[in-house]
Amino acid sequence: MLEQLRERCLACRACPLAETRTHVVFGSGDPGADIMFVGEAPGKNEDLTGEPFVGRAGQLLDRYLEAVGIPREKVYITNIIKCRPPQNRDPNPGEQEACIGYLREQFRIISPRIVVCLGRIAAQKMIDPNFRMTRQHGEMVKKGGVLFTATYHPAALLRNPAYKADTLQDFKRIAEAAGS
Ligand code: URA
Repeated sequence: MLEQLRERCLACRACPLAETRTHVVFGSGDPGADIMFVGEAPGKNEDLTGEPFVGRAGQLLDRYLEAVGIPREKVYITNIIKCRPPQNRDPNPGEQEACIGYLREQFRIISPRIVVCLGRIAAQKMIDPNFRMTRQHGEMVKKGGVLFTATYHPAALLRNPAYKADTLQDFKRIAEAAGS
């Protein structure tokens, strides 16, 4: 089912980002994952390869996963929108609306126990439209039997290393929740 959805997504022309993308970045990982990570949008390296979180931000994400003993191949990783916005600008509301159906379907098929939003854009879309990262990162919210949480986007950590210690604590809580 996930394969059929991927094929539909790869052919998507629902918004103008279809004109400028190199590859659709559908998502990757274990379709039976307990944890689903949701970022914002593909960057340059992701657009070139078709894989999520493979650039510098992705390498930092890998380090956090490793630090808390979560194998990357055991989770599923995707984004709110599947095509790169030019110059990596924030995805606009129209692009998010055109794309969010794919994420909803991925969520339904994968049926994770824990959803981890990476960054404000994903947290505001999936947890709370008024989500404030500095105040609410690491909080676990249960909705329909699924735990939702958010932490700093790894690209934000590259700009702002001061948030790294909090992020490590958030990842430890995620690993604990996944192990229990
Ligand atoms: N940033 C994101 O939000 N997603 C990616 O896939 C890469 C960088």
